[in-house]
Order: sequence, then structure tokens, then C-alpha cells
Amino acid sequence: MHQVKLADEIYYVGVNDRKTHLFENYWPLPHGMAYNSYLIVDEKVALMDTVERTFIDEYLSNIKNILGDRKVDYLVINHMEPDHSGAIRSIVAEYPDITLVGNKKTFPMLENFYQIKENTLEIGDGDELPLGKNTLEFYTIPMVHWPETMVSFEKTNGILFSADAFGAFGTLDGGIFDDELNLSFYEEEMMRYFTNIVGKYSPHTQRAMKKLSGLDIKMIAALHGPIWRSHTDFVLSRYDKWSSYQTEEGVVIVYGSMYGNTEKMADVIARQLAVRGVKNIRVYDASKTHQSYIISDIFKYKGFIVGSAAYNNEMFPSVEALVTKIEHMGIKEHLLGVFGSFSWNGGGVKNLMKFAENIKWDVVYEPVEEKGALKADKFQMCIDLANAMADRLNAE
Ligand code: FEO
Repeated sequence: MHQVKLADEIYYVGVNDRKTHLFENYWPLPHGMAYNSYLIVDEKVALMDTVERTFIDEYLSNIKNILGDRKVDYLVINHMEPDHSGAIRSIVAEYPDITLVGNKKTFPMLENFYQIKENTLEIGDGDELPLGKNTLEFYTIPMVHWPETMVSFEKTNGILFSADAFGAFGTLDGGIFDDELNLSFYEEEMMRYFTNIVGKYSPHTQRAMKKLSGLDIKMIAALHGPIWRSHTDFVLSRYDKWSSYQTEEGVVIVYGSMYGNTEKMADVIARQLAVRGVKNIRVYDASKTHQSYIISDIFKYKGFIVGSAAYNNEMFPSVEALVTKIEHMGIKEHLLGVFGSFSWNGGGVKNLMKFAENIKWDVVYEPVEEKGALKADKFQMCIDLANAMADRLNAE
């Protein structure tokens, strides 16, 4: 078996998941998911987090491939979500003398999830754990994206074990380090991961990045996605950009349409945006594309134009689900346009305007609502909506 080394005594022992369709039973995994874990083999042996529980056989084999019969002294629990903590019980069963290292918010979760209370070592911000040549230093990063989340910084080699932060969807297909693979793919999947899993906690992410800014980080070893050793600046700058709601020029248009009338309005708006020189235009049918991809693009682009047919006097269900998610995520600093159609009574546009009030984005033009098929005056209003959005994008 290959042994993958981050440094002299530090190994990758993670696994690839190509079976699961939905991460957290919600987010699509077309390219799978890696659950990363690391092993520091020094005078003391430390395991950095575990993996999803169904991979325990492969995981133990990865560990024993390096350790043989040697025991693990410490399990450092940077994050308690079960995609990483799921194998803790099995690890404790395999190494009964192991010490579980966490912070004061880790251990109540450990007991709640796994009824484990023994052999714990509570650390706090800035505390150190010497292993021999290597020393771990701990920093809590609450709500990135769970309350107990912390990172461990290995001081000798400058490796940041960063929990979910800087992670990405996607398996590690041979390439495990950032310089062994195509970054453009992982940038997309890293952004989709950040925006949907961590993005609600962008202000916390900003605080965490400030807290860690004094560390001399040479490598970032997250719990998902590639290990960053040649492009740490790239991943740090992306996280800074996304978590501070910095956007690019472009517009996401999303619609919910039963018989094509609202969709037609979306196409008119998209065409006029292109006529006005907007290059990045993404049009999505909310019923077709999973919201994780749409939300990722909303984080990316400044403009958002959303349309809904009326449905039982309410928004179209897939649009309602999307805008509710956006509200819950508290995404900030966007330009907004609203449109839609109805047959006999409204509901789509009226409720989208409630969303506009709640989200407090800047509405660039009056809502455009058609009865039935698109006709000349509302066609012109769709053009005017697109022009208003293009004007605002140009002004910024
Ligand atoms: Fe990868 Fe928050 O678990």
C-alpha cells in the first residue's frame, strides 16, 4: 500500500466515498467525497479526527499499514460532525488506552453522540500538546461550522489541521496534494462546499481567519478535499473573498415555471443582459438544478433575478425553497430583481417581494408580473429590469 506523507512523521490516512449520493443526506455528491484523517507518528502517536463510520475497515487498514502493532496515544477531535467522528467508537475499541483530545464543547457532544466520557483531555485556545519532535497547538474556531470546531497547528512543520475549513466536495482521485491535481475542478467544488456548508457562518469564518493570521502556515490539511501545500495563498484568499461576500460582475436568474410563461420572461431578461454586455449570466430552473449549485453561483455573482409562477396563491414550491434557504443563510450585499406570472390570482411575485424585504438586498427595478403569456408591455418591463440591473452592475 502507498504511504502518503505530509512530512517526515505525518501521514494521510483518509478514505474516498464514491457510494453516497447526498452529503448530510441533502447535498449532491456527483464527484463523491473524501473524509480526510491524518496520523502523526512521533514519540507519541496522534490521530487527527476519524472518518465516516462505514469506512472503518479501510480506515483501520490505512492506520495499521503505517503503525503496525504500535498503539495510538491521542485522538484529536477537531470536529464532531459524524462524517468525521463516526469512527471514534471503533477507534476507542481498537485502542482502549487512547486519550481523546478536545475542547469544552467537544465532550458533551461526544457523550451525546457516542456515550463516551472516559479518557478525555480538555484543551483551550493556545494550549500545546508535545508529541516529540512535533507539537500541536490548538485554536477554537466556533461556528465554522459547528460550535465545538477547532483547528490544530503542528508547529514544527507548519501544518494546519483545519477541520472543515478549506474543504471541498469531491474524492481525491490519485492526487491528494493541491499540486498533483487540476485546481479548477476543486475551486468549483470548494466553493460549493463553502457556500452551502459553511457560508451561513461567513462572519465566524472571517473571525477565525483573523485569529489564525499570525501563524506561519505552510500546509493546510482539511477534513475534505485536497491538502494545500503549494497554493495555500490561493485557498486562503478564496475563503477571505467568499466569507466577506465579495462578488464578481454577473447575474444569476432563477425561475419556477409550470408551463413556460415565467421561463419566457427569464429568457428575455437574460438576452437583454447579454445585449448590455453582461458576460456571466446563469439561468436556472429551480425545479431542475439542486439549490447547492444555485447558491454557489449566488455567492459568486452580484446580481440575482428571481421569477416565480403563482402556485396556490403562493410562490412556486421550488422557488420558495430556494429563497427560504437564501434567507436562512443570510447572504449579503446583492442586487435583486423580481418577476413572475399568474393565471387567475397572484402569489408568486407578491411573496418574492416579502423575500426582498426580509433579505434587504437592493431591488433594482419594480417587480414585473404578467398575467398568462408574456405580452408587449411586460416584455418591455423585462427589458427595463435587465437594463436596470446592467446599469447598477456597471456603476459598481
Ligand atoms: Fe465534514 Fe462538518 O463535517
